[in-house]
Amino acid sequence: MRTRIALMAAVVVATATAIPMRAQAQDGWYTSAQAEQGHELFNNHCAECHRPDLTGAMGPALVGTPFWQHWGGQTVEALYNFEHTKMPATNPGSLPADQVMAITAYILKRNQLPAGSKALSQASAKSLVIHKPK
Ligand code: HEC
Repeated sequence: MRTRIALMAAVVVATATAIPMRAQAQDGWYTSAQAEQGHELFNNHCAECHRPDLTGAMGPALVGTPFWQHWGGQTVEALYNFEHTKMPATNPGSLPADQVMAITAYILKRNQLPAGSKALSQASAKSLVIHKPK
C-alpha cells in the first residue's frame, strides 16, 4: 500500500511538471504566414547552397539529424544570430532582420516544430530552446 501511494505521488509530480512544456509547444513557435514568407525568401537567398528542400549541397543540411546535432539545446536566437551575421555566405548580413526571422520560422517548420498564433520575434527567439518535437 505504501509503495502504491508513493508511486501515485510520483505520477502526479511527473504529470504536473510535463504540463508547462506541452503548453509551450502547443502555442507554436511562429505563424504560418511568417513561415510562408520565409519559404519564398529561403528559395531566393539560401536554396542555391542549402537546396530548396534544405538537405544541403555547398552548405550543410538544415533539416533532420545534422540540424538537431548542431542546434538542439540552443536557443532560436542563436540560430537566428548565425544566419543574420554569417549568411548568405557570399553576402553576410545583407538581409534585414525581419526577413531573417521569417526564414528562421521556415527552417523551424521544416523541422516539424509547430506553427501557432504568435509570430517568431527577437523576444520569443531568446526564450525558445530548440528541441525535437515528440
Ligand atoms: C553561397 C552559399 C550559401 C548561401 C547562399 C547560404 N549559405 Fe548557409 N551555409 C553555407 C556554408 C558553406 C555553410 C557552412 C559554413 C559555416 O558553418 O560557417 C553554411 C551554414 C549555414 C548554417 C549552419 C548550418 C549548420 O548547422 O552547421 C545555417 C543555419 C545557414 N547556413 C543558413 C543559411 C540561410 C538562412 C541562408 C539564406 C539567408 C544561407 N544559409 C545562405 C553556404 C551558404
